[in-house]
Amino acid sequence: MKRYARPGLLSLAALATSICLAPASPANAGVAAGWQPDTLREATPDGFVVGTAVAGGGHHEDMPYPDPFPNDRKYRHLVAKEFSSVSPENQMKWEFIHPEPDVYDFGPADAIVKFAAQHDQQVRGHTLMWHSQNPEWLEQGDYTPEELRTILRDHIKTVVGRYAGQIDQWDVANEIFDGSGNLRTSENIWIRELGPGIIADAFRWTHEADPDALLFFNDYGVESINAKSDAYYRLIQELKADGVPVDGFSVQGHLSTRYGFPGDLQANLERFDALGLETAVTELDVRMDLPNGAEPTPEQEAVQATYYQRFLQACLAVENCDSFTLWGFTDKYSWVPVFFPDQGSATVMTEEFEHKPAYDSLLETLDAARLARR
Ligand code: XIL
Repeated sequence: MKRYARPGLLSLAALATSICLAPASPANAGVAAGWQPDTLREATPDGFVVGTAVAGGGHHEDMPYPDPFPNDRKYRHLVAKEFSSVSPENQMKWEFIHPEPDVYDFGPADAIVKFAAQHDQQVRGHTLMWHSQNPEWLEQGDYTPEELRTILRDHIKTVVGRYAGQIDQWDVANEIFDGSGNLRTSENIWIRELGPGIIADAFRWTHEADPDALLFFNDYGVESINAKSDAYYRLIQELKADGVPVDGFSVQGHLSTRYGFPGDLQANLERFDALGLETAVTELDVRMDLPNGAEPTPEQEAVQATYYQRFLQACLAVENCDSFTLWGFTDKYSWVPVFFPDQGSATVMTEEFEHKPAYDSLLETLDAARLARR
């Protein structure tokens, strides 16, 4: 629930006057005349968090640089300074955290959770049930349905239980529908071997392991009202009617300027909000076409900035959309050029951590919301 006043009650001009009249003191330094936020987290309205994926594992393992989060001091400094929420990019996925049947590797995930506590940041846990980045032993294992059920339940109890009280939102189920709105019954080992009922069990087990965490369905290609988001809408209605502890629906937001902006994003978030759910933006990036290693043009960067801004505005406008996460903030570590050939420049900072217009558009939009909601 948003913990600040709804926008639009006072005009910005009226607010600006009251802000100038407020006495400057450390307690309300944020409203002193002339004060300007320097970072995204400083600009963020109360009750809203702006987050980033924390780079490590996954495609980074094939890159010619050391594991980013533990090693890149400037990067770590910016994660702390700019963001009020963090999401492990790969470090809590099955293949990293549970590499062998009886072996868990909590080191990298622990380091992120500890860093978040030190810097007063929320954590989004990612992810517990997915068709991708599962370990060989699981995908190639010859397990009976009973054994697989036990494996999933034990994994959830172990991982969620370890971080209970320290994770605000869990992506319990990731990408369970395909583009036509059909459950991924062949790709997703859990649904394939155990049937769709396992989805409700995963939410129940997660809730038992951490009753305070908000539990989400998360996917890409669900920014608009379409077959896939309709499938989520129906499934979540059913699950809620059955008393399954589902709290949220989140849109990843892996956009390309090639396909245009999803203009019905806000309307889509609002229909999930109306089901009594939290909504969230969890993995925003906006890639562009850069054939043969081309540099982005100022026009491309300007278009990208509008995508970031409109995405943020849509979330800010929806009552219970309180968490807005970028899938990385610097091109230095972005997954985009690795997964989408001839596309790139998808984040808000260059490889040298210089701000792009997209960064400025986020800062201004957050700050306007912060001022309007005081
Ligand atoms: C990506 C990571 O960014 C890469 O490092 C990794 O190699 C592959 O996965 N949807 C998700 C994320 O839910 O977990 C994916 O992250 C991007 C798409």
